[in-house]
Amino acid sequence: MTDVSRVRKAVIPAAGLGTRFLPATKAMPKEMLPVVDMPAIQYVVQEAVSAGLADVLMITGRNKRALEDHFDRVPTVEKLLEDKGDTERLEAIQHATDLGEIHYVRQGDPKGLGHAVLRAKTHVGNEPFAVLLGDDLIDERDELLTIMIDVQARTGGSVVALIEVPMDKISAYGCADMTVIDGQDYVRVNHLVEKPAVEDAPSNLAVIGRYVLHPAVFEVLENTPPGRGNEIQLTDALQTLATREGEGGGVYGVVFRGRRYDTGDKLSYLKAVVTLACEREDLGPDLREWLGEFTADLAK
Ligand code: G1P
Repeated sequence: MTDVSRVRKAVIPAAGLGTRFLPATKAMPKEMLPVVDMPAIQYVVQEAVSAGLADVLMITGRNKRALEDHFDRVPTVEKLLEDKGDTERLEAIQHATDLGEIHYVRQGDPKGLGHAVLRAKTHVGNEPFAVLLGDDLIDERDELLTIMIDVQARTGGSVVALIEVPMDKISAYGCADMTVIDGQDYVRVNHLVEKPAVEDAPSNLAVIGRYVLHPAVFEVLENTPPGRGNEIQLTDALQTLATREGEGGGVYGVVFRGRRYDTGDKLSYLKAVVTLACEREDLGPDLREWLGEFTADLAK
């Protein structure tokens, strides 16, 4: 039995080197890249907190001090804004500090996502927990994490989020073979494989960066050898749990059909920024109008 049945803790791996965004990420963590006017990481922390997970553990590494600073108070700037009576900006910067309790642990060697998650073992203890990857942003109007938390409570196993992707894109993701369960809002995951070649992929269902895991995953990760890219893969540990019976065994999937913004590479990142800016009340109308003119010009 786990010590707590309901998920309370979120783990956010943020130790990646961000090489895809060089030179922007030479001296700055990629998680701090602004998506419109907020660092990508803040969207993810807000999503965790909105789902009731006020205890957040970030797995960081070298070069990541800016993350801690972002979620900390900044008295000089706060005082300045206060004196100027700029309550809007004051609230905006204070919001990041009021989000919840944020803890940090360093990954040390960058040995893969599975290794990063394993660094959360002491903090999480024997209770189910969520993992949120910063490259995936889920629209706040679409529910995902709360459904996954619920499915974890109902099944007692681990839960992954799945989306359907065009077959030629599957090699960028963990891929799941699943069985539909009659009358349920989740599926049973039979088999998981990390970034398969298109011809080896069991389906076009891709794992995206939201997980709700049974703590049994820690012991499995400790015994998972390096896999794809010579890294300890979370997908490989979940594959072990998918075939395990009894306490902590079983992997389930929630198929997500809502809005997701990928910020993992330059092109997707640009699309995410434009999409989210178009939806904003303050920027959207002007940006949409300009985009219309801009694309018309492009078509000339
Ligand atoms: C990680 C996981 C992969 C998953 C992806 C979702 O890969 O290893 O299974 O599909 O996140 O974003 P990464 O994109 O970090 O290489």
